[in-house]
Amino acid sequence: MYGLARPFLFALDAERAHGLALKAIELAYRSGTNPLLAGRPAPLPTKAFGLTFPNPVGLAAGMDKNGAHIDALLALGFGFVEIGTVTPRAQPGNAKPRMFRLPQHKAVINRLGFNNEGVDALVRNVERARRKEGLLGINIGRNKDTSNERAASDYLYCLERVYPLADYITVNISSPNTAGLRELQEEQALRHLIGALRESQEELGAQHGKRVPMLVKIAPDLSDEDIDAVARVLRDLSVDGVIATNTTVSRISVQDHRLAHETGGLSGAPLMNQATMVLRKLRTRLPDSIPMIGVGGILSGADAVAKMSAGASLVQCYTGLVYRGPELVGECVDAIRRRREHRSGGPVAPA
Ligand SMILES: Cc1cc2nc3c(=O)[nH]c(=O)nc-3n(C[C@H](O)[C@H](O)[C@H](O)COP(=O)(O)O)c2cc1C
Repeated sequence: MYGLARPFLFALDAERAHGLALKAIELAYRSGTNPLLAGRPAPLPTKAFGLTFPNPVGLAAGMDKNGAHIDALLALGFGFVEIGTVTPRAQPGNAKPRMFRLPQHKAVINRLGFNNEGVDALVRNVERARRKEGLLGINIGRNKDTSNERAASDYLYCLERVYPLADYITVNISSPNTAGLRELQEEQALRHLIGALRESQEELGAQHGKRVPMLVKIAPDLSDEDIDAVARVLRDLSVDGVIATNTTVSRISVQDHRLAHETGGLSGAPLMNQATMVLRKLRTRLPDSIPMIGVGGILSGADAVAKMSAGASLVQCYTGLVYRGPELVGECVDAIRRRREHRSGGPVAPA
């Protein structure tokens, strides 16, 4: 099905195609014809962060910024969907055009800039969702006009608002499209921010009688010393998990392309090795009690397996869906299932 729709979508501006594809997924879900888009893969239960995911393949943050399509996206077969990044107040994001396809590289460059309707609108959408089939992550950030010095109050506000509704919460400090945001990954700033959020997480846990895991999403453009520092802080503060990685500002692998100069984060195939390397390095520096989600450049089942081999407990994809469509989800689940069977010497989940 997606093979038929792709030439039509690729003839349109990337952001417009993205909006149309989401509408089509929603329509298919509501009319009960979504099995035409993708069948749900057989379960492959996977435990991480104290949760059991129906399968280990998730949708990465950014496709459903406002949580307006949770059920339709879960129905594509994902074990979990991460919505957001959401900020306290609504904001329009950067000027258009701000999303570009690089088909020769199976890549995307985006500089959307956290366009979203604000956390209150997201909360209303989540409250309406049925969430029958998988888990929900909510990814939080700061507003563009909030300084890094005051960033903690934005994250704390979002954390508090989404806490009762999320299965897990992701602290996004790695988008390249909000000026200064990535500086929050520096050791002192990170310790201050994550320290405050961990305290609040404990208080909210007591208040709501449930512990919601908090994950930190990091950039792929970190030196070995940066990775050491990030690992030190996340270990000291006992975060529940890490997502590696966000998009890259590097253009090394696409420098020949006419759109390579566009400002923003590069995702898709050219990110795969870089993101997997950061995942692997962080894995060796973190205790097993901090599981990781591997994301960045998954375009096939083999790519998903490579992330697991590098130390991921779960994987996510985004750009792969643009190039492969929803069948990528089942392909990744099946490839991870085969790896698990191979390692355990027999079938691992009910078919
Ligand atoms: C158009 C677009 C928008 C994105 N928006 C967000 C976002 O709001 N928050 C976030 O944490 N990551 C965002 N990302 C990053 C993805 O979640 C993911 O980390 C990255 O694209 C690498 O995965 P991929 O190669 O499978 O796309 C966005 C990516 C794209 C392509």
